[in-house]
Parts: sequence; C-alpha cells; structure tokens
Amino acid sequence: MKNKIERIKEDVLDALKKIKNLEALDVFEFKYMSRKGEFAAVMKNIASLSSNEKREIGMTLNNTKRELLKSFEFIKKTLSLENTDSKFVDMTLLGEDRNKGSMHPITIIQNELESLFASMGFMVLDGPELESDFYNFEALNIPEYHPARDMQDTFYVNRGGEDSKTNLVMRTHTSPMQIRAMQKYGAPLRCVIPGRVFRNEAVDANHDSNFYQIEGLMIDKDISLANLLSVLKTMLSGIFKTDVKVRVRPGYFPFVEPGLEVDISCTVCSGNGCPSCKHSGWLEMIGAGMVHPNVLKHGGIDPEKYSGFAFGLGIDRLVMMRYEIDDIRLFHSGDLRFLKQF
Ligand code: DAH
Repeated sequence: MKNKIERIKEDVLDALKKIKNLEALDVFEFKYMSRKGEFAAVMKNIASLSSNEKREIGMTLNNTKRELLKSFEFIKKTLSLENTDSKFVDMTLLGEDRNKGSMHPITIIQNELESLFASMGFMVLDGPELESDFYNFEALNIPEYHPARDMQDTFYVNRGGEDSKTNLVMRTHTSPMQIRAMQKYGAPLRCVIPGRVFRNEAVDANHDSNFYQIEGLMIDKDISLANLLSVLKTMLSGIFKTDVKVRVRPGYFPFVEPGLEVDISCTVCSGNGCPSCKHSGWLEMIGAGMVHPNVLKHGGIDPEKYSGFAFGLGIDRLVMMRYEIDDIRLFHSGDLRFLKQF
C-alpha cells in the first residue's frame, strides 16, 4: 500500500512538472486531486485495513497529499503570473538602482554658452577639426611666411603635394569657421562655433595640446565695437551669474583690425588681486576685433557694404574659473573622482 502511494506520488509529480498552461492544470486537478481522482480511490481502500495500518497509511497519505498540494499551488501561481494578458506593471515598485553618468563640465558650459548666444539670435555651427592650411591660416590673413604661424604651432598632415595650401592641419583655433560660415551664409550673419582645437604645447596646469574654444562672428551694416562689447558682457554675465567688469586693451591678431584683448575682472577675488589673476585683478580672456577687410573678401563679403566683429575665447579657461578648477589636465584625465562632482 505504501509503495502504491509512493508510486502515485512520483507519477503525480512527473505530470505536474510537464504542465505548461492553466488548462492542462485543470485537467490535472480533476485527474489526481478531485474526489474522483486517484488519491480518493486509495483513500477508499483504507476502510478495509486494520486499525494499526489505518493510522500508518493514513499518516503517509496525508503527508503526501500536503506535499503535492504545495507543489500544485506553486505551479498554479507561476503559470497565472506568466499568463497575465493585461501585462500589468506595478510602477510603484522600487526599481533597480543604476549608476548614472554626468555631463562633463566643458559640455555643461558649452551648452550654456550655446543657449546664451541662441537667445541673442546667433546660429550655432560645427566645423572640421582637421582643417586645410587655407582656412586655418591663409584666408585669415596669415600667409605662409607670417610670424603669427609660429604662435600656433600644430600638427600638420602632409598630403605630399607641391602646394602647401593643400596640406591639412589639426585646427589651431575655431577662427577658420568664420570663413566657412561667410561663404555658406553670406551677410548679414550671426554665428558662434564651439569646438576642439589643437596645438603643439608643452603641457602643464594651464596648457594642454587639446582644448576648446568658442568663436563668434557678427556681420551686418554699421556694426561697431560697441556691439561687440555688449554681446560679450551679456555672455559673461550669463555664465558668471553676476555683472562682470571688462577691460579692453589693444591686441594683435592678423584677421582683425583693430584687434583687442578683452580682460575680465577676476571672479575669484572680485578684482582685488589674488594668485589666480597674478595679483593684477584682471584675467586675460578673449581675443576680438573688427573683421579685417581681407578676411571679409575671402568669405565673399564686400567690405565696402558690410562690417563685423569677431571674437574667440577658451572654454576650458571659462570652466576653470566658474568651478575653481586649478589644473587643465583634469579635463582629459578620465578621473571619476573629478568627473562625479558635476
Ligand atoms: N583665434 C585666436 C586664437 O586662438 C583668438 C581670436 C582672436 C579669435 C581675435 C577671434 C579674434 O575671432 O577676433 O588665439
């Protein structure tokens, strides 16, 4: 009798394991667990046993039944869950916690600059990092023999031609995009070009061979330095969230005339003098000026009809000041202790 019970149990468990859906489970329930099922049949036989046997077999039967019922309920629950047509998802349940990345500080400030300039009606353009000698130098009034080329030593890609103008360079500044923008859009024109630039620099806390600039260009009738200063002040106040004082000095860049260096009052010491500003109270920040007539001509714009201003500044420098970062090398270090702070 005991053996029979054991055999039935094995059969039942086997059958249970094979069940793949709720309909099959119904059939199973009827066959094994109902009053007409196989267990009920065994139960009936108990009546003919002696009282000792009754107790022993009865106990075995009850334990087996309980065990089977547990497995049955488990399978039923699993199948019901798999079978939920409604595909109900409980949005209030806690999700898995995932590590999130954060924006690089240069990207944060670049985005802010882009929206500030967009709010003043400037287009945001993108340009090639591998630039031709023509756009990077020649068209910007820096011919091959010009000493200004020495200040922007870079990585040259020699294409093997006789003519140096067909050579490519890793762009040393974003200024070549002035020409490309003028050629493409003509005048009037308002655009900014943020992007990565390259120079053959000895790397230290303030210099890297890879850094970022943003170039600005505005061309229209009757543009003057007053327009330039107003745009620059709006940008600086937007980035530093306070009114920033600027100081203008003459500066030399072959592609502007007159050329200017625009300094801003030191944001660390409010102009009182500190190590960041080498105790002068001012920080050199922006190169700018009125676009040189030769440059307008290279861009296909008539210098008799139009004038314009241009400026260029290092985004890295701006980011370092805004977040008080003292080493430019951190930007490309990939150091998570640094990056996670933003
Ligand atoms: N391209 C210059 C540099 O990288 C910066 C600059 C100076 C840009 C004067 C300008 C400008 O547009 O007008 O040093």
